[in-house]
Amino acid sequence: MNNFRYHAYTDIRFGKGQVACLPELLAPYGKKVLMVYGGGSIRKNGLYDKVKELLAEFEVFELGGVEPNPKITSVRDGVEICKKEKIDVVLAVGGGSTIDAAKVIAGGTFYEGDAWDLVADSSKIGKVLPIVTVLTLAATGSEMNKNAVISNMELNQKLGTASHDFIPQASVCDPEYLYTLPAKQTAAGTADIMSHIFEQYFQKNTEAYISDRFAESLLKACIKYCPIALKEPENYEARSNLMWASTQALNSLLSCGKGGAWTCHPIEHELSAYYDITHGVGLAIVTPRWMRYILSEDTVDKFCEYGRNVWNIAEEDKYCCANAAIDATEQFFKDCGIPMTLTEIGIDDSKIVLMAEDTVKYNNLKAAYVALEEKDVEAILRACL
Ligand code: NZQ
Ligand code: ZN
Repeated sequence: MNNFRYHAYTDIRFGKGQVACLPELLAPYGKKVLMVYGGGSIRKNGLYDKVKELLAEFEVFELGGVEPNPKITSVRDGVEICKKEKIDVVLAVGGGSTIDAAKVIAGGTFYEGDAWDLVADSSKIGKVLPIVTVLTLAATGSEMNKNAVISNMELNQKLGTASHDFIPQASVCDPEYLYTLPAKQTAAGTADIMSHIFEQYFQKNTEAYISDRFAESLLKACIKYCPIALKEPENYEARSNLMWASTQALNSLLSCGKGGAWTCHPIEHELSAYYDITHGVGLAIVTPRWMRYILSEDTVDKFCEYGRNVWNIAEEDKYCCANAAIDATEQFFKDCGIPMTLTEIGIDDSKIVLMAEDTVKYNNLKAAYVALEEKDVEAILRACL
C-alpha cells in the first residue's frame, strides 16, 4: 500500500431535519455569513426561506445565481462581498457548483490578485475563510473534500484546484432535499459518483484491498438505488444511500493506499470547457469508451474483478467477463436516461483535436492508470460521437 494522509474532518450532519443544526455549526466562526446559492432551486423547494429563518440572529449577505459549471465571474462577485463586508464564514446551499464557488470565494478573500490565479495555480491559495455547506445534489463529494472546479469561459478553461483548507468545516446532508431533483440531475449525479469511484479503483496499485472493496460497495449502492430514485423521487432509502455514496466516493477514503492521475475527468472537463455540458453526462459518455480503449492484457484482470464483484458476472474467460462489465456499465447509464453519444448532446467533431490537446496540456495523463497521449484522447472522443 502507498503511504497516505487521511484527515477527513468535516462535521457531517446527515438526515431529515438536520438543517436545524445550522446556527450551531456557524456560530463558532462569527456572525457575518455569506450565503452562496445557485439559480433558484432552493427558492422553489423552500430551503432558502428555511435557512433565512434559522439564521435570523446572523448578519446574512447573499450571492445567488451561481451557475452549473460555476464561472469565475460569480466567484469574483463573492470575493468582493467578503472583502467589503468582512465576512466571517461562507455558507454554500446547493450542489457541487455552489459549493465549489464558495470554496474559491473563501480563498479569494485573503488573496490580493484575481481569484482565477487560485484556480490556475493552487499553490497560491493561502488563508481560507471557514466553509459550511447544505448539500442539495448527490454527485461531487464537494461537501467533504478539498477540491473546487471553476470555469473561465473567456479562456475556454475548466480547471480543478484544491486546498486542504477548502474542506468544509461542516455539511448538512438531508436526503429529502434530493426529492426535487430533475431526473437528469439524479442520473448525471450518479454517473459522477461512479466516475469518482472508477478513477480511484482503476489504478496500478493492487494491494489496497480495503479501498477496493469500499469502492465496489459504493458502486453497488449506485447501481441499486439510482433506478429506484428515478422511479420514486421521494424514496428516502434510495436518496439517503445515494447521498452518502456521493460523500464517501470523494473524500479521500477510496484513494487510501492507492494513487495515480485521473483520466475521464480531465477529458470531460474539456467537453464542459468548450460546450458547458452537464458534468455527469459527459462522464457517462466518455467512461465506457475509455474502458474499451484501455482494455488489454495489462488491465483485463482489474476489469474482470470489477465485473465479478460489482456486476456478478460469472463468465470464465477474463476478456468476456471484462467486456460484459463494460457493456453493463454503458447499458446502466443508458437505462438511467442519459444520452450516451456526443452527437445527442449537440457536440460534433470540430473541436475534438483541440480538446484532446488541452486535456494533455493541463493534466498529467502519463501518470494515469494507462498512460494516454493526445492521439489516444482524440480516439476516445471520436468513439463517443
Ligand atoms: O442552480 P440551481 O437552481 O440550484 O439548480 C441546480 C443546477 O441547475 C440543480 N439543483 C441542485 N440541487 C437541486 C437542483 N434542482 C432541484 N432540486 C435540488 N435539490 O441542479 C443543477 C446542477 O447543479 P450543480 O451544482 O451544477 O451540480 P453538481 O453537484 O453535479 O456539480 C457539478 C459541478 O461540480 C464539479 C463539476 O465539474 C461541475 O462544475 N465537480 C466538482 C468536484 C469537487 N468539488 O470535488 C468533483 C467533480 O468531479 C466535479 O468536477
Ligand atoms: Zn466528477
